[in-house]
Amino acid sequence: MLEKVKTTVDFIHQKTGGFVPEYGIVLGSGLGGLVNEINIHHALEYHDIPNFPVSTVVGHTGRLILGTLSGKKVIALQGRFHFYEGYTMQEVTFPIRVFIDLGIKRLLVSNAAGGMNPNFKIGDLVLINDHINLFPTNPLIGKNIEAWGPRFPDMSEPYCPTMLATAKSIADEQGVRAHFGVYAGLTGPCFETPAEYRWLRAIGADVVGMSTVPEIIVGRHAGIPCFAVSIVTDLGGFEPIQKVSHEEVLAVAQASEKKLTGIVKELLQRLS
Ligand code: HPA
Repeated sequence: MLEKVKTTVDFIHQKTGGFVPEYGIVLGSGLGGLVNEINIHHALEYHDIPNFPVSTVVGHTGRLILGTLSGKKVIALQGRFHFYEGYTMQEVTFPIRVFIDLGIKRLLVSNAAGGMNPNFKIGDLVLINDHINLFPTNPLIGKNIEAWGPRFPDMSEPYCPTMLATAKSIADEQGVRAHFGVYAGLTGPCFETPAEYRWLRAIGADVVGMSTVPEIIVGRHAGIPCFAVSIVTDLGGFEPIQKVSHEEVLAVAQASEKKLTGIVKELLQRLS
């Protein structure tokens, strides 16, 4: 794994003339539009990058973008890897290891999620302040690589309080509805049953989705401050029961991504 990451990092260094990103960004389903705001220096197709998995889901473009956003050097995954596609946790989080080895100082992640909190409306943003790992596994299972982080990482502060508070101020200033909330991450690919949404609410989750948790675990393993934001694309656990479809999730995400883009751009501007 160490060698694989090194090979990939060497390839990226060579293709980009040694570009060192400050921020790693993962763009969720229907949320790839932030890339249009990046002043792109290099774009690499996943299938051209050694050891990179290749995305299989419609709506997930597979490109690694390097450039500047709000004057900050960023590396962005346009299209992430999901556990439900059949990748191992090591494959799902491989790009995050590469980001870390390239030198990122912070990790920012977005996703589309189902909302269970009755205060949430479709299209709202949720600034994730904690998560519940409901995947049946964990990307850190296996021999620990001490150079990457400790065997038993602390998870008392999974999400960076400074980035959360700054993002909330920006959302308020921009008139964007944004809540703090707990994200439950599980495998999918089924959306949840009505009983599952109610159970997720009962155990303390506000939103649910099929990503983010593995990436944040790897980021925190390396001690990187992390930020994650959901767009609520559907609501679960309420009467009358609503159907959920991937098309609808993508459509809502796309319709709301301007709000997210505005906040991320300003957040980078304000972070030192
Ligand atoms: N459940 C799980 N994942 C999701 C959902 C949901 O309701 N909406 C968008 N991604």
